[in-house]
Amino acid sequence: MSKKRIVVLTGAGVSAESGIKTFRDSGGLWEEYDIMEVATPEAWERNRDLVIDFYNQRRKQLYEVEPNDAHYALVELEKDYDVHIITQNVDDLHERAGSSHVMHLHGELKKVRSSVDENLVYDLEGWELKPGDTCELGSQLRPHIVWFGEPVHMIPAAADLSNTADIFVIIGTSLNVYPAASLVSYVRPGVPVYLIDPGEVNAAHIQGVRVIREKAGSGTRRLVEELRK
Ligand code: OAD
Repeated sequence: MSKKRIVVLTGAGVSAESGIKTFRDSGGLWEEYDIMEVATPEAWERNRDLVIDFYNQRRKQLYEVEPNDAHYALVELEKDYDVHIITQNVDDLHERAGSSHVMHLHGELKKVRSSVDENLVYDLEGWELKPGDTCELGSQLRPHIVWFGEPVHMIPAAADLSNTADIFVIIGTSLNVYPAASLVSYVRPGVPVYLIDPGEVNAAHIQGVRVIREKAGSGTRRLVEELRK
């Protein structure tokens, strides 16, 4: 018998217990930095060095942190289910924990790309991208991140995947950023939806959602135990 499919949408909260800051919580990254100054194409045009440095700091930190219980619990789920993760995160903690299917909606920190041809994507060695590092066409390399105002190319594939879910799980996202937050609307009627988050996420529009109001580590472990019963 083929395994049931679980599609999991994750956000910054799944990596919080690894020591990576979320964006919109108190003390989050968007309190410290202005989105418009570091995460938009305009910021890149205006102040390239600041943008490069912002993502260098994020990338550097990535080499200092480890996956947490939530990432590992999702790997464990693969014993019984066909698990597909759609993440808004640009870290690689799902992959490092061992998840087999991970789709990044908003790019990946450890990759960089050409600033004139977005199809030229490269793995960056080490954490530091430098002003003056160029692609094969001679243009400055930029972080491989989907900035505010840029199209999210992975959305059609993520929507198709959400539509095939037998169970849909949302972990650690404020559901504030579209189009990622709209993926749940592609879930077929009657499919169980779980939401794991210690904060107050507006989930009123999600029919029949079961909210597990816990941190990702303990909440995901609880969910895995329930689903394995
Ligand atoms: P947010 O910072 O908006 O939301 C983080 C969510 O994680 C909140 O709902 C918190 O309650 C929850 N949270 C905090 N600690 C947690 C824990 N230990 N366990 C589980 N949940 C926890 O982050 P995202 O929703 O991921 O995009 O943000 C979406 C996008 O906005 C990001 O991908 C990023 C950002 O700007 C770009 O930069 C393009």
